[in-house]
This record gives sequence, C-alpha cells and structure tokens, in this order.
Amino acid sequence: MTTIYDEVPYPSLVYSDTHPNRLATLATLFGLKPPPITNCRILELGCGDGTNLIAIAQSLPQSQCVGIDFSATQIAMGQKVIAAIECPHITLKQLDFNEIDESLGMFDYIIAHGVYSWVPKEMQDKVLSLIKSHLAPKGIAYISYNIYPGWLMENVTRDLMMYHTQQLPKLPFQICMMQAKGIVQFIANLRQQSGEAFDVLLQEKSQQFQTMQDNYLYHDFLEADNHPVYFHQFVEHATQQDLAYITDIEFRHYLMLSFPPQVVEAMKELFQEDFFKKEQYMDFFYNRTLRRSLLCHQNMTINRELNWEILPTFYIAASLQVQNPAINWQNDEPALFTNADGETITITHPLIKNAIRYLTTLYPHRVSFEELFKHVSQQSRQNQELSTLRETFAQELLPLYSLKAIELNMESSPFVTMLSTYPTANPLARYFASQAQQPVINLQCEFVNLSTSAMALLPYLNGKNNSQALRTILKKLIKNKKIESKKDNLSAVLEKTLREIARNALLIT
Ligand SMILES: C[S@@+](CC[C@H](N)C(=O)[O-])C[C@H]1O[C@@H](n2cnc3c(N)ncnc32)[C@H](O)[C@@H]1O
Repeated sequence: MTTIYDEVPYPSLVYSDTHPNRLATLATLFGLKPPPITNCRILELGCGDGTNLIAIAQSLPQSQCVGIDFSATQIAMGQKVIAAIECPHITLKQLDFNEIDESLGMFDYIIAHGVYSWVPKEMQDKVLSLIKSHLAPKGIAYISYNIYPGWLMENVTRDLMMYHTQQLPKLPFQICMMQAKGIVQFIANLRQQSGEAFDVLLQEKSQQFQTMQDNYLYHDFLEADNHPVYFHQFVEHATQQDLAYITDIEFRHYLMLSFPPQVVEAMKELFQEDFFKKEQYMDFFYNRTLRRSLLCHQNMTINRELNWEILPTFYIAASLQVQNPAINWQNDEPALFTNADGETITITHPLIKNAIRYLTTLYPHRVSFEELFKHVSQQSRQNQELSTLRETFAQELLPLYSLKAIELNMESSPFVTMLSTYPTANPLARYFASQAQQPVINLQCEFVNLSTSAMALLPYLNGKNNSQALRTILKKLIKNKKIESKKDNLSAVLEKTLREIARNALLIT
C-alpha cells in the first residue's frame, strides 16, 4: 500500500524532548520511578524515516529501539542509514498500526511524535490503545498533538489553502505548494491596508510559510488528516484508555513564574486548585497550538508538588549567556542571563549565579548535584550551616529547570568533552559529515552546524587515528582545498577543530 507519506515524506528531524532522558527526568520530578534509561526498550510509533529514533539509539547504546511506520519509502530511508552506521540495537519495521500485535512486546518508553492528531479519528483510539497495551508497568509515553484554541486560528489559513488547491487540477508537488502559499500571500497583500486583526494573521502566516519546509507545511496545512483537540478532550480520551496525564514537556506555565503574584492569585480563583482546569485555561491564555504530553498507567501515583529533595538525583548542565558580567558575584546583585530561547533570566542568589557561571564554562558537560554544590559552596562567603545552604541551593535551583535555564539529566554525559588520544565521534554524525550533510546530529539528539574544518575532519574520528595521523589527514584536506586554512600550525588547527567537535557533544571517546 502506498501512503501519502511515501509521496510526500515527512522531513527528517530530531526532537531532543522525546529522549528517554527527558521523559524520565520529568517523570522523576513528578514523583514517579521510571525505568532506568541506559538499557531500556524504546518504541516509536509513526517514526517516519527513523532519524529521531536512530539519534536516540546512538546516545543509548545498551537500549533496544523499535520504530514503526506504514510508509515503505520512509522506512527504507532509515534502514539505509542504520546499515551504514552499523547500529544493531535499532529496528525499523514497515507496519500499519492496525497490524501490530502482542509479539511486539513491552516498552519502557513509547514515543508518538506528530501522530495522534495527524491520523483519522478512529486511529487516534488505536494510538492510545497501543500505548496502553505496550507500555511497561512503570513506563512513560510521550505523545504530541495539535490543539485548540490555537488551531482555530491556524485553520483559517489551512482552509484557505485547502480550498484553493482543491480548485486546481492535480499539480506537481512544488507547484501545488507555491499555489497554497501564494493564495495566502495574495489575499494578505490585497488586504494590507485595512488594519484589522485578520490582516495581521495573514501577514504573519504568509511570512512564516516562507521559512517552513514544504513537506512539513503540507502535512499540517494541506493533508486531510489534521484533527486538533482541546487539552481536556485529550485527557478524557487518555483516561478512557486507562492512561494518566503526567505533565507536558513544556511545563513553565505550571509554576506560573512569569506572572506577577497578584495575577497568580486571580488565576488561582479561576482554576480553584484544579490542576486540569488550570492547564486548559493556560491553553486559552497562550492560544496554544501544540502539546507534548507525558502519559503513564492510571495506577501510578503522580505527585504534582515539586520537591527540592529530588534534585540531588540529577546531573545538571547549563549554557546561558551572561548579559552583565561585571556585577558582584558574591552578593545579591541581580545577574541577567539569556537562555536558548532568547529570554532573560534574572538570578540574585550568589550560589545560583555562580553555579550557572560554572556550568556554562563546562557545557555540555553534566555535573552531579553534589559536585556542583561542593564547587559553589567552597567559594561561597555565606555564613550558613552547610545543610541549610544545600537546601536553599536546591530550592532556588529547581524552578530554573522550568525556565529552561538549566538542564536536568538522569545520567552523566553520554559524550566526552575532554580530548582523548584516539577520538571517536558518534557514527551518525560521521555518516552525515561523510555525505556533506549539514547540520549533523549530536549525542544530545540535537542538530548542530559545524565549521568546514570540523565537517571535513569528522569522518576520520573513528577511534583509529591519533593526533599525528589526524594532522596528516588535515594536511591533505588543506592541500586538496577541502579546508581553507591560513594557519600553517597544524597542531593548533587540529586542537581548535577537535575542541569544536567536543563542545558540540559529538565525541564518544
Ligand atoms: C506527521 S508524521 C510524523 C513523523 C515523525 N514522527 C516526526 O514527527 O517527525 C506521521 C507519521 O505517522 C505515520 N503513520 C500515520 N498513520 C500510520 C499508521 N496507520 N500506521 C503506521 N504509521 C502511520 C506516517 O507514515 C508518518 O510517518
């Protein structure tokens, strides 16, 4: 059977938020005891060409990963990559969800990214029932879905694009996409002067569509199946399948840190302490379009009171830009940091300011809570009992996770940041680099863009070349004009390039 995804494959993307490390971290914060991630079993439903799952498998070499998708074209694309990088602990199967039976087995982590609201209504039941029947007793599932109210507004342009393209004869894909984007721009341009809210919407969408990949745009805006739901409807559906909602990946609104205290009080009246109501109101407040939710079995006990005592379980990392480095780091003078989303995070507690500064110098290296506390407390001028200081430190640090100022991890880094004698880069990144395919994927399941010299050197970091061999390789690459280098000090060029590769979480050894 040929599917629409054979004709228009979904873009090959990675989603670091689907990594079991992230799922287990959040589940742990919410009082659950998820399965250890190092040697877990992972299932991805609707895995497309498997890029995301292959990236996860690379960072968890003891795990068993299975990806399922009914598109033969996409599965074949992924299998080609798996064969090239020799990754025996991942299997991609071409199967319809309706063909899955119990022989598939049970999984500690199940991922369904971009599936639930992109399939016919009856298949939405199937996706949840598959999660229910294949999730291990303490397992965690990740499921993303388009939501209302945000999609009420998105549907304005979707309906316009669908209607317009349906009026046309069957066109080659690219021309069809030009037509779909063109009609939005056409109407936006015509209406430009009228000053109504609708104009703003059309202008914004028109600009946004120019930056989006056509294949991606197609599946959200032109494919027949895109059925958003309200959050409360999703929770009801999950409950019918005996699954419990834990949290969303994006849980910054949970703590309501971005609102002034009087607004929080007013909002609390609205929610009346009902967690689910609060989540639904927040979707209205932010006009959200997407949710990425975690589920577990109904019989699990979820504790929604975040407790600092759990923090020492984690390995912590941070990479923030400091905006005002000349401040006094030993007192309460506010330090302003910028996170990866460009938001400003203000920190006053000297221990926390120094922790962030220290972690940033080490990034992407992950530091255990105790090591981090030891480092900052040794330098601290605070006259407090160590145990009190440790508690304050944990209490102040925890909310920073929801503000995307720190990363929490279940395990220490699956990559090295110190250079070894025979450096080995992750095979998936080496494969991408050997095909000159930018960006490459690192061991944090992120896309990273590298310099020309790092791209050229990466395929040779196979654990068989020491620095002398790598210098010879570099010399050849410069001679063959694969790398432009004015420096004739090969050792310096090599050191700089290896450091760049290490800093991007690409080295296994
Ligand atoms: C929107 S794409 C998402 C792909 C990928 N998970 C991602 O987010 O990048 C939905 C995927 O689900 C797959 N799919 C849809 N219905 C399916 C079914 N009944 N059985 C198996 N796979 C299905 C499609 O082939 C497609 O690859």
